[in-house]
Formats: sequence, structure tokens, C-alpha cells
Amino acid sequence: MNNTPPIIALDFPSAQETFAFLKQFDGENLFVKVGMELFYQEGPYILEQLKKQNCRIFLDLKCHDIPTTVYKAMKRLAGFGVSLVNVHAAGGSRMMEAALEGLEAGTAAGQKRPSLIAVTQLTSTSPEMLQHELLIKTPLEETVLRYSKLAEESGLDGVVCSVHEAERICRETSPSFLTVTPGIRLADDKKNDQVRVATPAMAREKGVSAIVVGRSITQAEEPVSAYRNIVREWEGIKA
Ligand code: C5P
Repeated sequence: MNNTPPIIALDFPSAQETFAFLKQFDGENLFVKVGMELFYQEGPYILEQLKKQNCRIFLDLKCHDIPTTVYKAMKRLAGFGVSLVNVHAAGGSRMMEAALEGLEAGTAAGQKRPSLIAVTQLTSTSPEMLQHELLIKTPLEETVLRYSKLAEESGLDGVVCSVHEAERICRETSPSFLTVTPGIRLADDKKNDQVRVATPAMAREKGVSAIVVGRSITQAEEPVSAYRNIVREWEGIKA
């Protein structure tokens, strides 16, 4: 995941809208994220089409179920030729280990297994929600750190977290442990439903491995120029 470009969240309802959007990038090799909306609509077909356009893919289905079910799901996903997949750390260590075992079992000999990361807390989760709705009294940052260590102990390659927690996770896990961070906005963008947002420059400063950007690019008036601005900030190129 070194030198990973910003991962564009393709949160579109159909393949048609996805490819209309991607057409603007004129065949550039992109790293994209396919989430539930698009995958549930189009299925593996969308992944095949994106691979034909030389996209690297983060398949963001956030699996969370009993270990056996997650094992079987990951065994299937391993055959899709994507770079990155994820589960919820809240499923516990046995579920995360099963996910990894499933990916290994489903990866063909000689092929690279997709990296596996765990969602710690969604970036839309606020401390109030954690305490009053989920009844978790531990401070949000502590839960994120604990879930990250649990993911590392379970053999996972990294976590999804907000930029605000990434610095501490990087400090307290091994150097190769990935931190993939959504909730990215340029300074004058709208936050939408994200609570713990940060700019690409902040993400870079905190040493995160990769940033995921959706609406700041997909809903921008000029998506390609929004993408370029984000790349410049992420790469630390001064305007
Ligand atoms: O549009 P925006 O940049 O907020 O999109 C962020 C993307 O990252 C969405 O596809 C969302 O599902 C995903 N995501 C997130 N928080 C997480 C994990 C994934 O926002 N913890």
C-alpha cells in the first residue's frame, strides 16, 4: 500500500453512473472503493469491469457475522481479484481470524491474497452516540485503539479509522500495520454526515497509509480537478 493514491469511494447506485463518472478520468489508473450500494446492485460484474479499466479495488462490504459465515464469505471474495477487503472489528478476534483464514483458503496458488483490514468505529460515530446508544462507556479513542490491537493480534493487515486516531495507532502497532482513513474533506468542503473529518494534509502529517474520499470528489462540480487538489495535498505538493 506504499504510495497509494487517494481511494475514490464509488458510492453510486449503478454501473452506468459509475462509468459515466470514471469516463472523466480518461483511463487514468485509479484506486477505487466499491461499497454496499454499488456491489448489491451490480454484483461481481462491477468488479470485472473496473479491473478491465486497470482500477485497483477496495471492496468495502464491512462483513460482521458469526465466524463460519465470515470465513465462507471471505473465501468467495478472495476470488474477485480485489486488493483490499474489510470486516468489523466488533465481530471479535475469532471472527477476524476466520476472515483471514477464509481469504487464504480462497486465494489461488501464486496469487496475492487481498489485504484485510478491520473497521474500528465508523467515522460517523460520535462519542455521545457510543455512550448513549451503544452503551459503551469507554472513550471512543480507547475503543478504536483496543480494536486496532485486537485486529493486529488476529493477524489482520490494518484498520479503517479516522485520521484523529491514526497517529496513536501507528505508534502502538507495528510499522507495517495499515491505517486507512475515510472522513476526508478539503478545508472548505461540507462535512455531510461525517463527524470526525480531516483534510488530506492532516492525514499525511499523521502518517496514515491511505485516504478514502467520496463526496468531496464524486459530488464536486469538477470531480477531476477536486481529485487533483486532493492528490496534491495528500502528496504534500505546495500550491
Ligand atoms: O463521501 P465520503 O468521503 O464521506 O465517503 C466515505 C466513504 O468511506 C463511504 O463510502 C463510507 O461508507 C466509507 N467509510 C466511512 N467510515 C468508515 C468506514 C468506511 O466513512 N469507518
